[in-house]
Amino acid sequence: MIFTVAIDGPAAAGKGTISKAVAAYFGMAHLDTGLLYRAVGLKVLNGCDPLASARSICFEDLHNSNLRSPEVAEAASKVAGIVEVRAELLAFQKSFARREGGAVLDGRDIGTVICPDAESKLFITASAKVRASRRCQELRKNGMNISAEQVLKDLLARDARDTDRATAPMIQAVDSILIDTSQLSVDDAIAEAVAAVKKRIVL
Ligand code: CDP
Repeated sequence: MIFTVAIDGPAAAGKGTISKAVAAYFGMAHLDTGLLYRAVGLKVLNGCDPLASARSICFEDLHNSNLRSPEVAEAASKVAGIVEVRAELLAFQKSFARREGGAVLDGRDIGTVICPDAESKLFITASAKVRASRRCQELRKNGMNISAEQVLKDLLARDARDTDRATAPMIQAVDSILIDTSQLSVDDAIAEAVAAVKKRIVL
């Protein structure tokens, strides 16, 4: 079966958790496309050229434990504005999306640019305050000490950069289902997402 679930949304809205759960539920492969940009961002922070970094990305780079830091997130959103970097990462994402067995991809431009023909599209959002508080907890759990105010400031700056860029800006695809997780438990958010995907599976 070829079936693509495209999941987009702003930073820390719950895309990652929902995407992993949806992929596990349907037995599909999952790609967190943010990790591609984070891996390029990390290489750039280490002094490499953005385009050369994008060209050299391999699966092992996506498992680097430093990818979740706020500095790498910021570097990721900067390299994500470079047209040539995005172009370099396009083919890998497109082919992942059409792999046999189905695929869930989460990011910013999956339903609009990478997989405009995805069988199922979700746009996951939450209020900025809720997102900042979740990200803060996540970072603290990983041993990073950062104030809630700084996390909120970083998220808003990144959202603005992702929304305002000329190429593949973060935007809700017109044919996507909106899920606002601000008031939802993790289980309820996952249940809504799974139900939305189920409706698109023709048996
Ligand atoms: O985990 P979080 O939602 O904070 O971010 P992420 O999904 O890991 O993405 C990090 C950055 O990569 C974003 O702020 C975007 O600038 C960029 N990105 C993108 O441009 N397109 C994607 N499909 C995925 C991520």
